[in-house]
Amino acid sequence: MTTPRSIALLGSTGSIGTQAIQIARAHPDRFRITSLAAGGSDLRLVAQQAAELGVEAVAVARGDEAQLREHLADAARAAGRAAYRPEVLVGDDAATQVAGGGADVVLNGITGSIGLRPTIAALQAGSTLALANKESLIVGGPVVKALARPDQIVPVDSEHSAIAQSLLAGRKDEVRRLVLTASGGPFRGRDHDDLKKVTPAEALAHPNFAMGTVITTNSATLVNKGLEVIEAHLLFDVPFEQIDVVVHPQQYIHSMVEFVDGAVVAQIGLPTMLVPIALGMGWPDRVPDAETPIDWTKASDWRFEPLDDDAFPAVRLARQVGAAGSTYPAVYNAANEECVAAFHDGTIAFVDILPTVAAVVAAHDAESGDLTVEQVLAAESWARGRTHEVLAQR
Ligand SMILES: NC(=O)c1ccc[n+]([C@@H]2O[C@H](COP(=O)([O-])OP(=O)(O)OC[C@H]3O[C@@H](n4cnc5c(N)ncnc54)[C@H](OP(=O)(O)O)[C@@H]3O)[C@@H](O)[C@H]2O)c1
Repeated sequence: MTTPRSIALLGSTGSIGTQAIQIARAHPDRFRITSLAAGGSDLRLVAQQAAELGVEAVAVARGDEAQLREHLADAARAAGRAAYRPEVLVGDDAATQVAGGGADVVLNGITGSIGLRPTIAALQAGSTLALANKESLIVGGPVVKALARPDQIVPVDSEHSAIAQSLLAGRKDEVRRLVLTASGGPFRGRDHDDLKKVTPAEALAHPNFAMGTVITTNSATLVNKGLEVIEAHLLFDVPFEQIDVVVHPQQYIHSMVEFVDGAVVAQIGLPTMLVPIALGMGWPDRVPDAETPIDWTKASDWRFEPLDDDAFPAVRLARQVGAAGSTYPAVYNAANEECVAAFHDGTIAFVDILPTVAAVVAAHDAESGDLTVEQVLAAESWARGRTHEVLAQR
Protein backbone atom coordinates (compact mmCIF):
# COMPACT_ATOMS: atom_id res chain seq x y z
CA MET A 1 0.00 0.00 0.00
CA THR A 2 1.38 3.46 -0.92
CA THR A 3 1.28 6.33 1.56
CA PRO A 4 -1.10 9.18 0.73
CA ARG A 5 0.43 12.31 -0.77
CA SER A 6 0.78 15.18 1.68
CA ILE A 7 -0.94 18.33 0.42
CA ALA A 8 -0.44 21.92 1.57
CA LEU A 9 -3.67 23.67 0.60
CA LEU A 10 -3.44 27.43 0.06
CA GLY A 11 -6.74 29.27 -0.25
CA SER A 12 -8.61 26.51 1.61
CA THR A 13 -11.83 28.49 2.10
CA GLY A 14 -12.22 29.50 -1.55
CA SER A 15 -13.89 27.84 -4.50
CA ILE A 16 -10.78 25.83 -5.49
CA GLY A 17 -9.84 25.13 -1.86
CA THR A 18 -13.20 23.73 -0.79
CA GLN A 19 -13.38 21.50 -3.87
CA ALA A 20 -9.86 20.21 -3.16
CA ILE A 21 -11.01 19.26 0.35
CA GLN A 22 -14.00 17.45 -1.16
CA ILE A 23 -11.62 15.40 -3.35
CA ALA A 24 -9.21 14.66 -0.49
CA ARG A 25 -12.13 13.62 1.74
CA ALA A 26 -13.32 11.12 -0.89
CA HIS A 27 -9.80 9.67 -1.35
CA PRO A 28 -8.05 9.39 2.02
CA ASP A 29 -5.90 6.60 0.56
CA ARG A 30 -4.48 9.03 -2.02
CA PHE A 31 -4.32 12.44 -0.29
CA ARG A 32 -3.71 13.81 3.19
CA ILE A 33 -4.07 17.57 3.62
CA THR A 34 -1.35 18.43 6.12
CA SER A 35 -1.56 22.23 6.19
CA LEU A 36 -4.04 24.95 5.30
CA ALA A 37 -3.70 28.63 4.47
CA ALA A 38 -6.43 31.22 3.94
CA GLY A 39 -6.78 34.98 3.94
CA GLY A 40 -8.65 35.13 7.25
CA SER A 41 -12.12 36.43 6.30
CA ASP A 42 -13.74 33.40 7.92
CA LEU A 43 -11.64 32.12 10.83
CA ARG A 44 -14.41 29.79 11.99
CA LEU A 45 -14.45 27.99 8.63
CA VAL A 46 -10.64 27.66 8.57
CA ALA A 47 -10.75 26.20 12.07
CA GLN A 48 -13.50 23.72 11.13
CA GLN A 49 -11.53 22.62 8.07
CA ALA A 50 -8.37 22.22 10.17
CA ALA A 51 -10.06 20.16 12.87
CA GLU A 52 -11.90 17.94 10.40
CA LEU A 53 -8.72 17.22 8.42
CA GLY A 54 -6.41 17.15 11.45
CA VAL A 55 -3.83 19.33 9.69
CA GLU A 56 -0.50 20.03 11.36
CA ALA A 57 -0.37 23.75 10.51
CA VAL A 58 -3.00 26.45 9.94
CA ALA A 59 -2.06 29.81 8.43
CA VAL A 60 -4.03 33.01 7.91
CA ALA A 61 -2.86 36.33 6.49
CA ARG A 62 -5.21 38.47 8.60
CA GLY A 63 -7.13 38.03 11.81
CA ASP A 64 -6.74 37.70 15.52
CA GLU A 65 -4.57 34.76 16.58
CA ALA A 66 -6.35 34.27 19.93
CA GLN A 67 -9.71 34.18 18.16
CA LEU A 68 -8.43 31.62 15.66
CA ARG A 69 -7.15 29.46 18.53
CA GLU A 70 -10.57 29.72 20.20
CA HIS A 71 -12.32 28.63 17.00
CA LEU A 72 -9.82 25.77 16.69
CA ALA A 73 -10.57 24.59 20.23
CA ASP A 74 -14.34 24.74 19.55
CA ALA A 75 -14.00 22.93 16.22
CA ALA A 76 -11.72 20.30 17.75
CA ARG A 77 -14.28 19.57 20.49
CA ALA A 78 -17.07 19.36 17.90
CA ALA A 79 -14.97 16.96 15.81
CA GLY A 80 -14.29 14.78 18.85
CA ARG A 81 -10.56 15.62 18.96
CA ALA A 82 -10.35 17.81 22.06
CA ALA A 83 -6.55 17.42 22.29
CA TYR A 84 -5.97 18.72 18.75
CA ARG A 85 -3.41 21.60 18.73
CA PRO A 86 -2.03 22.49 15.28
CA GLU A 87 0.75 25.02 14.69
CA VAL A 88 -0.87 28.43 14.06
CA LEU A 89 0.69 31.06 11.78
CA VAL A 90 -0.74 34.55 11.34
CA GLY A 91 0.56 37.31 9.08
CA ASP A 92 1.45 38.32 5.53
CA ASP A 93 4.11 35.63 5.36
CA ALA A 94 1.99 32.80 6.79
CA ALA A 95 0.94 31.20 3.48
CA THR A 96 4.53 31.37 2.23
CA GLN A 97 5.74 29.49 5.31
CA VAL A 98 3.14 26.78 4.77
CA ALA A 99 4.04 26.62 1.07
CA GLY A 100 7.70 26.11 1.87
CA GLY A 101 7.02 23.35 4.41
CA GLY A 102 7.98 20.50 2.07
CA ALA A 103 4.59 18.86 1.37
CA ASP A 104 4.54 16.48 -1.60
CA VAL A 105 2.09 18.82 -3.35
CA VAL A 106 1.35 22.49 -2.73
CA LEU A 107 -2.02 23.41 -4.21
CA ASN A 108 -1.98 27.18 -4.63
CA GLY A 109 -5.61 28.29 -4.75
CA ILE A 110 -5.03 31.83 -3.48
CA THR A 111 -6.52 34.63 -5.58
CA GLY A 112 -4.28 37.29 -7.04
CA SER A 113 -0.60 38.06 -7.38
CA ILE A 114 -0.27 37.82 -3.58
CA GLY A 115 0.25 34.14 -4.45
CA LEU A 116 3.71 34.85 -5.91
CA ARG A 117 5.84 34.31 -2.79
CA PRO A 118 4.01 31.07 -1.86
CA THR A 119 4.52 29.79 -5.42
CA ILE A 120 8.24 30.54 -5.19
CA ALA A 121 8.49 28.93 -1.73
CA ALA A 122 6.78 25.75 -2.97
CA LEU A 123 9.14 25.45 -5.93
CA GLN A 124 12.20 26.11 -3.78
CA ALA A 125 11.09 23.45 -1.31
CA GLY A 126 10.95 20.93 -4.18
CA SER A 127 7.19 20.30 -3.85
CA THR A 128 5.01 19.67 -6.87
CA LEU A 129 3.08 22.89 -7.43
CA ALA A 130 -0.54 22.32 -8.42
CA LEU A 131 -1.20 25.79 -9.74
CA ALA A 132 -4.64 27.36 -9.73
CA ASN A 133 -3.17 30.75 -8.82
CA LYS A 134 -2.26 31.60 -12.42
CA GLU A 135 -1.42 35.17 -11.40
CA SER A 136 1.81 34.10 -9.67
CA LEU A 137 3.17 32.46 -12.82
CA ILE A 138 2.04 35.33 -15.02
CA VAL A 139 3.53 38.12 -12.92
CA GLY A 140 6.64 36.16 -11.94
CA GLY A 141 7.15 34.84 -15.51
CA PRO A 142 10.83 34.02 -16.02
CA VAL A 143 11.59 34.17 -12.27
CA VAL A 144 9.06 31.41 -11.53
CA LYS A 145 10.02 29.39 -14.59
CA ALA A 146 13.70 29.45 -13.70
CA LEU A 147 12.93 27.87 -10.33
CA ALA A 148 10.76 25.05 -11.67
CA ARG A 149 12.16 21.73 -12.80
CA PRO A 150 10.34 20.07 -15.71
CA ASP A 151 6.85 18.94 -14.66
CA GLN A 152 7.15 20.55 -11.22
CA ILE A 153 4.24 22.87 -12.07
CA VAL A 154 0.98 21.05 -12.79
CA PRO A 155 -1.75 23.35 -14.10
CA VAL A 156 -5.11 23.36 -12.31
CA ASP A 157 -6.70 25.99 -14.54
CA SER A 158 -9.11 23.81 -16.53
CA GLU A 159 -7.94 25.06 -19.93
CA HIS A 160 -4.28 24.37 -19.15
CA SER A 161 -5.07 21.04 -17.56
CA ALA A 162 -6.91 20.18 -20.79
CA ILE A 163 -3.90 21.22 -22.86
CA ALA A 164 -1.49 19.25 -20.64
CA GLN A 165 -3.72 16.19 -21.12
CA SER A 166 -4.07 16.75 -24.88
CA LEU A 167 -0.32 17.23 -25.34
CA LEU A 168 0.18 13.61 -24.28
CA ALA A 169 -1.19 12.64 -27.73
CA GLY A 170 1.91 13.77 -29.65
CA ARG A 171 5.49 15.06 -29.47
CA LYS A 172 6.32 18.66 -28.64
CA ASP A 173 7.71 19.29 -32.15
CA GLU A 174 4.40 18.04 -33.60
CA VAL A 175 2.33 20.77 -31.92
CA ARG A 176 1.05 23.44 -34.31
CA ARG A 177 -1.18 25.48 -32.04
CA LEU A 178 -3.00 25.57 -28.74
CA VAL A 179 -6.67 26.52 -28.75
CA LEU A 180 -8.08 27.87 -25.50
CA THR A 181 -11.84 27.78 -25.17
CA ALA A 182 -13.72 30.63 -23.50
CA SER A 183 -17.30 30.70 -22.29
CA GLY A 184 -17.55 34.33 -23.40
CA GLY A 185 -18.84 35.20 -19.92
CA PRO A 186 -22.26 36.60 -19.00
CA PHE A 187 -21.98 39.46 -21.55
CA ARG A 188 -21.21 37.38 -24.62
CA GLY A 189 -22.75 38.94 -27.73
CA ARG A 190 -23.05 42.44 -26.24
CA ASP A 191 -21.39 45.44 -27.82
CA HIS A 192 -19.57 48.30 -26.09
CA ASP A 193 -22.72 50.44 -25.72
CA ASP A 194 -24.62 47.55 -24.17
CA LEU A 195 -21.84 47.06 -21.66
CA LYS A 196 -21.95 50.62 -20.28
CA LYS A 197 -24.72 49.91 -17.80
CA VAL A 198 -23.91 46.38 -16.63
CA THR A 199 -23.75 45.93 -12.84
CA PRO A 200 -21.39 44.00 -10.55
CA ALA A 201 -24.20 41.53 -9.79
CA GLU A 202 -24.63 40.84 -13.51
CA ALA A 203 -20.86 40.44 -13.94
CA LEU A 204 -20.85 37.82 -11.18
CA ALA A 205 -23.47 35.68 -12.92
CA HIS A 206 -21.05 33.35 -14.73
CA PRO A 207 -22.94 31.06 -17.11
CA ASN A 208 -21.12 27.85 -16.09
CA PHE A 209 -18.86 28.15 -13.04
CA ALA A 210 -19.26 29.24 -9.39
CA MET A 211 -15.90 30.89 -8.68
CA GLY A 212 -14.40 33.68 -6.58
CA THR A 213 -15.23 37.35 -7.28
CA VAL A 214 -12.00 38.29 -9.06
CA ILE A 215 -11.89 35.41 -11.54
CA THR A 216 -15.64 35.70 -12.20
CA THR A 217 -15.32 39.40 -12.99
CA ASN A 218 -12.25 38.63 -15.11
CA SER A 219 -14.33 36.09 -17.01
CA ALA A 220 -16.87 38.82 -17.78
CA THR A 221 -14.20 41.25 -19.08
CA LEU A 222 -12.25 38.39 -20.72
CA VAL A 223 -9.16 39.48 -18.72
CA ASN A 224 -9.16 35.93 -17.40
CA LYS A 225 -8.75 34.61 -20.95
CA GLY A 226 -5.99 37.16 -21.54
CA LEU A 227 -4.18 35.94 -18.43
CA GLU A 228 -4.68 32.37 -19.61
CA VAL A 229 -3.04 33.10 -22.96
CA ILE A 230 0.05 34.34 -21.09
CA GLU A 231 -0.17 31.35 -18.74
CA ALA A 232 -0.28 28.94 -21.71
CA HIS A 233 2.73 30.63 -23.30
CA LEU A 234 4.73 30.30 -20.06
CA LEU A 235 3.64 26.76 -19.18
CA PHE A 236 4.01 25.17 -22.60
CA ASP A 237 6.66 27.35 -24.31
CA VAL A 238 4.43 28.03 -27.30
CA PRO A 239 4.70 31.44 -29.04
CA PHE A 240 1.74 33.81 -28.68
CA GLU A 241 0.89 33.65 -32.39
CA GLN A 242 0.32 29.90 -32.00
CA ILE A 243 -2.17 30.31 -29.16
CA ASP A 244 -5.77 30.89 -30.28
CA VAL A 245 -8.92 31.62 -28.31
CA VAL A 246 -12.34 30.41 -29.43
CA VAL A 247 -15.63 31.16 -27.70
CA HIS A 248 -17.44 27.94 -26.80
CA PRO A 249 -20.31 28.90 -24.48
CA GLN A 250 -21.07 25.38 -23.23
CA GLN A 251 -17.44 24.81 -22.16
CA TYR A 252 -17.62 21.06 -22.60
CA ILE A 253 -14.38 21.28 -24.52
CA HIS A 254 -11.94 22.57 -21.92
CA SER A 255 -9.26 23.34 -24.55
CA MET A 256 -7.49 21.71 -27.48
CA VAL A 257 -4.17 21.10 -29.18
CA GLU A 258 -3.79 21.11 -32.96
CA PHE A 259 -0.97 18.91 -34.25
CA VAL A 260 1.01 19.28 -37.50
CA ASP A 261 -1.04 16.65 -39.33
CA GLY A 262 -4.23 18.67 -38.74
CA ALA A 263 -5.50 16.43 -35.95
CA VAL A 264 -7.05 18.32 -33.05
CA VAL A 265 -7.01 16.63 -29.66
CA ALA A 266 -9.39 18.00 -27.04
CA GLN A 267 -10.20 17.24 -23.43
CA ILE A 268 -13.93 17.09 -22.84
CA GLY A 269 -15.97 16.99 -19.67
CA LEU A 270 -18.69 18.74 -17.71
CA PRO A 271 -17.85 22.40 -17.05
CA THR A 272 -16.62 21.92 -13.49
CA MET A 273 -13.21 22.10 -11.84
CA LEU A 274 -13.22 18.68 -10.19
CA VAL A 275 -11.14 16.84 -12.81
CA PRO A 276 -8.44 19.54 -13.12
CA ILE A 277 -8.16 19.90 -9.33
CA ALA A 278 -8.00 16.12 -8.81
CA LEU A 279 -5.46 15.73 -11.60
CA GLY A 280 -3.43 18.59 -10.14
CA MET A 281 -3.30 16.76 -6.81
CA GLY A 282 -2.68 13.32 -8.29
CA TRP A 283 -0.64 14.04 -11.47
CA PRO A 284 0.16 12.07 -13.53
CA ASP A 285 -2.35 9.61 -12.10
CA ARG A 286 -6.08 10.10 -12.50
CA VAL A 287 -8.41 10.07 -9.53
CA PRO A 288 -11.31 7.63 -10.02
CA ASP A 289 -14.79 9.19 -10.18
CA ALA A 290 -13.54 12.75 -9.75
CA GLU A 291 -16.48 13.89 -11.90
CA THR A 292 -19.57 12.42 -13.57
CA PRO A 293 -18.86 11.85 -17.27
CA ILE A 294 -20.98 13.49 -19.97
CA ASP A 295 -24.17 11.62 -20.74
CA TRP A 296 -23.92 10.99 -24.51
CA THR A 297 -27.45 9.58 -24.67
CA LYS A 298 -28.86 13.12 -24.28
CA ALA A 299 -28.88 15.50 -27.26
CA SER A 300 -26.81 18.67 -26.86
CA ASP A 301 -25.62 21.53 -29.09
CA TRP A 302 -22.05 22.78 -28.92
CA ARG A 303 -21.38 26.18 -30.41
CA PHE A 304 -18.14 27.93 -31.37
CA GLU A 305 -17.69 31.63 -32.25
CA PRO A 306 -14.76 33.99 -32.74
CA LEU A 307 -13.82 36.37 -29.97
CA ASP A 308 -15.12 39.95 -30.32
CA ASP A 309 -11.88 41.87 -29.69
CA ASP A 310 -13.61 45.26 -30.03
CA ALA A 311 -16.16 44.76 -27.26
CA PHE A 312 -13.67 42.72 -25.20
CA PRO A 313 -10.14 44.05 -25.83
CA ALA A 314 -8.60 42.21 -22.85
CA VAL A 315 -7.08 39.31 -24.78
CA ARG A 316 -5.48 41.60 -27.40
CA LEU A 317 -3.89 43.69 -24.63
CA ALA A 318 -2.74 40.56 -22.77
CA ARG A 319 -0.97 39.32 -25.90
CA GLN A 320 0.85 42.67 -26.10
CA VAL A 321 1.96 42.65 -22.46
CA GLY A 322 2.84 38.96 -22.67
CA ALA A 323 5.03 39.54 -25.73
CA ALA A 324 6.65 42.60 -24.08
CA GLY A 325 7.44 40.41 -21.06
CA SER A 326 9.46 41.74 -18.10
CA THR A 327 7.14 43.56 -15.65
CA TYR A 328 4.39 44.30 -18.21
CA PRO A 329 2.23 41.26 -17.30
CA ALA A 330 2.56 42.17 -13.60
CA VAL A 331 1.41 45.72 -14.37
CA TYR A 332 -1.55 44.46 -16.45
CA ASN A 333 -2.62 42.12 -13.67
CA ALA A 334 -2.15 44.57 -10.77
CA ALA A 335 -3.97 47.39 -12.58
CA ASN A 336 -6.78 44.98 -13.34
CA GLU A 337 -7.01 43.79 -9.71
CA GLU A 338 -7.41 47.43 -8.60
CA CYS A 339 -10.03 48.10 -11.28
CA VAL A 340 -12.01 45.00 -10.34
CA ALA A 341 -12.12 46.21 -6.72
CA ALA A 342 -13.16 49.71 -7.89
CA PHE A 343 -15.90 48.23 -10.09
CA HIS A 344 -17.30 46.24 -7.15
CA ASP A 345 -17.09 49.33 -4.90
CA GLY A 346 -19.25 51.14 -7.44
CA THR A 347 -16.46 53.66 -8.18
CA ILE A 348 -16.12 52.79 -11.87
CA ALA A 349 -18.21 51.26 -14.63
CA PHE A 350 -17.53 47.91 -16.27
CA VAL A 351 -16.39 49.62 -19.47
CA ASP A 352 -13.83 51.70 -17.52
CA ILE A 353 -11.84 48.62 -16.50
CA LEU A 354 -9.93 47.87 -19.71
CA PRO A 355 -9.18 51.48 -20.76
CA THR A 356 -7.74 52.10 -17.28
CA VAL A 357 -5.60 48.96 -17.42
CA ALA A 358 -4.42 49.97 -20.92
CA ALA A 359 -3.52 53.49 -19.73
CA VAL A 360 -1.47 52.12 -16.83
CA VAL A 361 0.32 49.62 -19.10
CA ALA A 362 1.08 52.41 -21.60
CA ALA A 363 2.61 54.55 -18.84
CA HIS A 364 4.87 51.75 -17.63
CA ASP A 365 8.59 51.67 -18.38
CA ALA A 366 10.06 48.27 -17.60
CA GLU A 367 13.66 47.94 -16.53
CA SER A 368 15.86 45.90 -18.84
CA GLY A 369 17.94 42.89 -17.80
CA ASP A 370 17.02 39.75 -15.92
CA LEU A 371 13.78 40.09 -13.97
CA THR A 372 13.87 39.81 -10.17
CA VAL A 373 11.07 39.28 -7.63
CA GLU A 374 11.79 42.72 -6.17
CA GLN A 375 11.29 44.32 -9.60
CA VAL A 376 7.99 42.47 -10.00
CA LEU A 377 6.76 43.63 -6.59
CA ALA A 378 7.92 47.21 -7.23
CA ALA A 379 6.19 47.27 -10.63
CA GLU A 380 2.99 45.95 -9.08
CA SER A 381 3.02 48.54 -6.37
CA TRP A 382 3.68 51.25 -8.99
CA ALA A 383 0.79 49.91 -11.11
CA ARG A 384 -1.65 49.92 -8.18
CA GLY A 385 -0.76 53.54 -7.36
CA ARG A 386 -0.89 54.62 -10.98
CA THR A 387 -4.30 52.99 -11.42
CA HIS A 388 -5.71 55.14 -8.63
CA GLU A 389 -4.15 58.25 -10.19
CA VAL A 390 -5.70 57.42 -13.57
CA LEU A 391 -9.08 56.81 -11.92
CA ALA A 392 -8.85 60.05 -9.91
CA GLN A 393 -8.10 62.06 -13.08
CA ARG A 394 -11.27 60.90 -14.87
N1 LIG B 1 -12.71 28.96 -8.89
C1 LIG B 1 -12.43 28.40 -10.04
O1 LIG B 1 -13.25 27.64 -10.59
C2 LIG B 1 -11.12 28.66 -10.70
C3 LIG B 1 -10.86 28.11 -11.96
C4 LIG B 1 -9.62 28.29 -12.54
C5 LIG B 1 -8.65 29.02 -11.88
N2 LIG B 1 -8.92 29.55 -10.66
C6 LIG B 1 -7.88 30.33 -9.99
O2 LIG B 1 -7.71 29.82 -8.68
C7 LIG B 1 -7.41 30.87 -7.78
C8 LIG B 1 -8.45 30.88 -6.66
O3 LIG B 1 -9.72 31.17 -7.21
P1 LIG B 1 -11.04 30.98 -6.38
O4 LIG B 1 -12.16 31.15 -7.35
O5 LIG B 1 -10.96 29.73 -5.58
O6 LIG B 1 -10.98 32.25 -5.41
P2 LIG B 1 -11.79 32.53 -4.07
O7 LIG B 1 -13.01 31.68 -4.01
O8 LIG B 1 -11.90 34.00 -3.96
O9 LIG B 1 -10.78 31.99 -2.93
C9 LIG B 1 -9.53 32.57 -2.70
C10 LIG B 1 -8.89 31.92 -1.49
O10 LIG B 1 -7.61 32.54 -1.26
C11 LIG B 1 -7.55 32.94 0.12
N3 LIG B 1 -6.59 34.02 0.29
C12 LIG B 1 -6.69 35.31 -0.08
N4 LIG B 1 -5.59 36.00 0.29
C13 LIG B 1 -4.78 35.10 0.91
C14 LIG B 1 -3.50 35.17 1.52
N5 LIG B 1 -2.81 36.32 1.57
N6 LIG B 1 -2.96 34.04 2.07
C15 LIG B 1 -3.63 32.89 2.02
N7 LIG B 1 -4.85 32.75 1.44
C16 LIG B 1 -5.41 33.84 0.90
C17 LIG B 1 -8.97 33.31 0.45
O11 LIG B 1 -9.20 33.40 1.83
P3 LIG B 1 -10.15 34.60 2.40
O12 LIG B 1 -11.46 34.45 1.72
O13 LIG B 1 -10.17 34.37 3.85
O14 LIG B 1 -9.46 35.88 2.00
C18 LIG B 1 -9.70 32.13 -0.20
O15 LIG B 1 -9.55 30.98 0.62
C19 LIG B 1 -7.39 32.16 -8.61
O16 LIG B 1 -6.08 32.42 -9.03
C20 LIG B 1 -8.24 31.81 -9.81
O17 LIG B 1 -7.89 32.55 -10.96
C21 LIG B 1 -10.13 29.39 -10.06
